[in-house]
Amino acid sequence: MAEDARGYEGVGARGPRPRRAVPAELPGLVEVLAEAFDDDPLACYLFPPAGVRRRGLRRFFRLQLRRLLAGAGQVWTTEDLLGAALWVPPVAERPASLRDLWALAPVLVDLLAGGRPTVALRLLADVERARPTEPHWYLATLGTAPRAQGRGIGSTLLQAVLARLDAEGLPAYLESSKERNVPFYARHGFEIVGEARAKDDPLTLWLMWRSPRPGPLG
Ligand SMILES: CC(C)(COP(=O)(O)OP(=O)(O)OC[C@H]1O[C@@H](n2cnc3c(N)ncnc32)[C@H](O)[C@@H]1OP(=O)(O)O)[C@@H](O)C(=O)NCCC(=O)NCCS
Repeated sequence: MAEDARGYEGVGARGPRPRRAVPAELPGLVEVLAEAFDDDPLACYLFPPAGVRRRGLRRFFRLQLRRLLAGAGQVWTTEDLLGAALWVPPVAERPASLRDLWALAPVLVDLLAGGRPTVALRLLADVERARPTEPHWYLATLGTAPRAQGRGIGSTLLQAVLARLDAEGLPAYLESSKERNVPFYARHGFEIVGEARAKDDPLTLWLMWRSPRPGPLG
């Protein structure tokens, strides 16, 4: 997808104007995402005690944002920093390197405190294995501050990137552990292509793929 740090013109007139985040905004975005995911079923499963959950989520999103902002990822937000969409570009392969494990160490501390590190890591490994091999843009995280949900921020952030993927004929993929999000993503063109389930809990992750939509001339 073409690099462009400017706002996305297509939705600017109708709602919050999406733009690429800059590294100085990392602390604010960590807070927004940690708040947004506080009641997320996967977060509740991985970090059951609420205190541990908020700490684990902050550590996880700090790590994720740092890596994406420093590398080839794309972090989209709005002027008021009330939401964020974190995208990972297509890569030929994603081997779990020693460096990845080391980088995850701070979050593993919270996983251990959550009390189910083995089953949780097995579930995360299943999800990783289920990822399609066809090159795609991966929506690693999408979150809107709870006080601003339902106002179009999530849709606007999604469309900023999906419109470009459509223009370039590129697919997208995501995992969601919230059933309410499935129709939301379906409205944006994603389809369920699989499910991953926890062995010891009703937790389900819906795996969703989006083929590019042909343009008016396509
Ligand atoms: C899912 C989420 C990113 C949507 O962002 P948003 O800014 O609220 O989305 P929009 O206003 O553009 O669209 C609203 C739609 O989002 C969906 N939605 C999911 N959770 C929602 C929530 N808590 N509040 C409002 N809408 C929600 C609904 O389908 C809603 O449509 P509806 O009003 O017809 O039911 C946001 O609600 C959120 O951050 N939720 C918690 C974290 C999360 O689940 N992230 C996605 C992980 S895969």
